[in-house]
Amino acid sequence: MGVAERLAAPAVGPHYHRRMTNSPAATQPAADAPDDRPYSPGLEGVIAGETALSKVDGANGRLTYRGYRIGDLVEHGTYSAVANLLWTGDWDPRARLSTAAVPEPVLAALRALPRTAKPMDALRTAVSSWGATEGVTYPPTVEQARALTAFSPSALAAFARIRQGKDPVDPDPSLDLVAGFLHQLKGEPPDAGDARALDAYFIVGAEHSFNASTFTARVITATNSDIASAVCGAIGTMKGPLHGGAPSEVVDQLSKMGSVERAEAWLRGALDRGERLMGFGHRVYRAYDPRAAALRKVAEGMEHQPDWLQLAIQVEDMALKLLAERHPERPLKTNVEFYAAPVLQGVGLTPDLFPATFSLARHAGWTAHILEQAANNRLIRPDVRYVGPPERDLPV
Ligand code: ACO
Repeated sequence: MGVAERLAAPAVGPHYHRRMTNSPAATQPAADAPDDRPYSPGLEGVIAGETALSKVDGANGRLTYRGYRIGDLVEHGTYSAVANLLWTGDWDPRARLSTAAVPEPVLAALRALPRTAKPMDALRTAVSSWGATEGVTYPPTVEQARALTAFSPSALAAFARIRQGKDPVDPDPSLDLVAGFLHQLKGEPPDAGDARALDAYFIVGAEHSFNASTFTARVITATNSDIASAVCGAIGTMKGPLHGGAPSEVVDQLSKMGSVERAEAWLRGALDRGERLMGFGHRVYRAYDPRAAALRKVAEGMEHQPDWLQLAIQVEDMALKLLAERHPERPLKTNVEFYAAPVLQGVGLTPDLFPATFSLARHAGWTAHILEQAANNRLIRPDVRYVGPPERDLPV
């Protein structure tokens, strides 16, 4: 049964939410009566909130942040200006944000981790210790959002160095956030082209409405919990390969293919085994992901391109053709992660840093949603259809 059939027509849209919450009788079937309230697995097609932050038009492949087109923001903006736009609603192209120092207790926590710890685990640990160290409390503020967004790149860079036996690098307040992150990661002044390319990646990764990690952050905030807890939960959600783990797996899949000659057979084999092609498909986009289009342009313009970029471009066409053959009923197009991979590798990040770097970019969106949720809060507590045994006596 399709989503449209599962959800009765008048029940879709903002009024659905209001009708359900304002009418307890509609949500509570009589005892022992079959529960035939509409249910959409994965909440697909369900309106679970309202936001003024971004609009994802999946059918037409369009994305705007507070009404501004993503392509224009990438071309004319910086991540700092975009973060400021999301937090405040004001477009100020000169808005600046630099990375912040990592408090000593957080560095101690990062040093205590095994060097083999996943960067996502290290980032989640860092944000948790930051919240405890700073004593962050509800309600969230724009200042907290700025402070956390400025802290996390320094913390991830510190962990990346600690695990290599190197000392963390102090923030350079003269650098904008993304250039500062590269500087603290590599310990040398960042290449301007690399910093610009990574800044573009941060802009496209900054916000994407009610994706799984953002929804997690809003659920946590809705309990009046603090911003650090909400971002920890969001990082945990993004760690899953279906959400934030895809770009490193794109690199992995391309390296398994090895060459254009072997690519088609490899792709067919993977699909025959029921595997998913990383960097393709999306819950909302049925058209080409506009973020992928923006990042492909950035990747092709980079001075330091990974040597497999041309392979990726050829594989993309083959994969789109094969996916269209296998799923003619469901358009599966390139998503943002496919071209995130060459940009991230091109600026010198190792694949295991990709998901955590995506999380750094998404800090702007997560924290903006946390502010938006708190400003008009209602505890998020959906209902569930019970499918277990009927009430019965315990055998004694
Ligand atoms: N490769 C092969 N088959 C796919 C892919 C893919 N990338 N994506 C979806 N399908 C298949 C599914 O297996 C499903 O087939 P089935 O019904 O025979 O099992 C069918 O297409 C329908 O899938 P959807 O309902 O469109 O997918 P869903 O909304 O559940 O999942 C998701 C979306 C998780 C992004 C999925 O497309 C996927 O796993 N892609 C690969 C991972 C990836 O690139 N993730 C990054 C997403 S972008 C982001 O999070 C920033």
